[in-house]
Amino acid sequence: MISTAAIPGHVPQSVVVDFDIFSPPDLKKGVHEAWLALHRSNRSSVLWTPRNGGHWIVNSGQLVPQFYADFKHFSSRNEFLPRSTANSIPASLDPPEHTKFRRIINTILTPKYVSSMDGEIEARTINLVEGLVPKRRCDFVSDFALKLGTVAAMLSFIFLYLARHPELRKLLAAEEEILSGAVEEFLRRFPIVSPVREVVDDYPCDGVTLHQGDLIVIPTMLHGLDSQIFPDAEAVDPRRKSQVTSTFGQGPHRCPGAMLARAEVRTVLREWLRRIPDFNVEREDDIEFRAGIVGSIARLPLHWT
Ligand code: HEM
Repeated sequence: MISTAAIPGHVPQSVVVDFDIFSPPDLKKGVHEAWLALHRSNRSSVLWTPRNGGHWIVNSGQLVPQFYADFKHFSSRNEFLPRSTANSIPASLDPPEHTKFRRIINTILTPKYVSSMDGEIEARTINLVEGLVPKRRCDFVSDFALKLGTVAAMLSFIFLYLARHPELRKLLAAEEEILSGAVEEFLRRFPIVSPVREVVDDYPCDGVTLHQGDLIVIPTMLHGLDSQIFPDAEAVDPRRKSQVTSTFGQGPHRCPGAMLARAEVRTVLREWLRRIPDFNVEREDDIEFRAGIVGSIARLPLHWT
């Protein structure tokens, strides 16, 4: 039972859930599965959990992009759970202060820069995969993904899905021209980030009022996995018509690395499937998921012949 003492007066009991974003119930089944289980068992568009200092959670795929874009009501000034005075630039700034820092980042991460990185990403990927081929097994996370940087967490979820879905693996290995569509679809299916915002002024929403100063977690996965927006949302269909998602956020903080991330995911899929088209999870029980503001997989043992 949740202690009601921890729940503020403006939060009705009907929207209270016991959900620790760092250790959600049923995490053993997966990070996305844990968020989906929360979503499916609660109809309200916003929920309150007393965990980690107490905070709201957006529980509606449609509200996810709307709240990200609405920086006037949902400030980035606190990006941590529990609340912290620590901050970082540009993530914890709001416009207009945020804008000048973003301009600088945007001048670095341009399409031209990303294309200039193509050759290096490809060479590093090929080198890593070719080193693994004769070993016939690896921990995808420590032996491979981590060496490619920030996109590691996303890649782990994609490779777990591929290891469990031989038809999709075969399709992507045989038809490289659908890889770009597959990347978009994987990005929709496996968002990993659940950033935090602070409510700027009292904000009515679906029969409750978010109070000024409350914190709210906005899980990007609940947009991509909303079956009212994306029919059969849990299925990966590389030919699905591409639509807006919130995998890279929305609004002023939308990820400036999105183009680079896409290029990395595409290259890794192409070069890995060329060399290791057939692979499986070695022992399902050894898979270790990590939940939090960024979801990831800590251990993913794969093997192939
Ligand atoms: C698949 C991989 C990635 C995902 C899913 C992702 C996701 C996100 C999301 C959702 C945000 C917005 C956070 C918020 O609104 O609070 C963000 C911001 C950011 N990302 Fe990424 N990201 C990825 C890769 C990258 C890469 C490769 C880079 C750098 C090259 C990068 C650099 C940044 C920076 C600097 C910000 C802060 C931007 C700001 O506050 O204005 N990301 N990312």
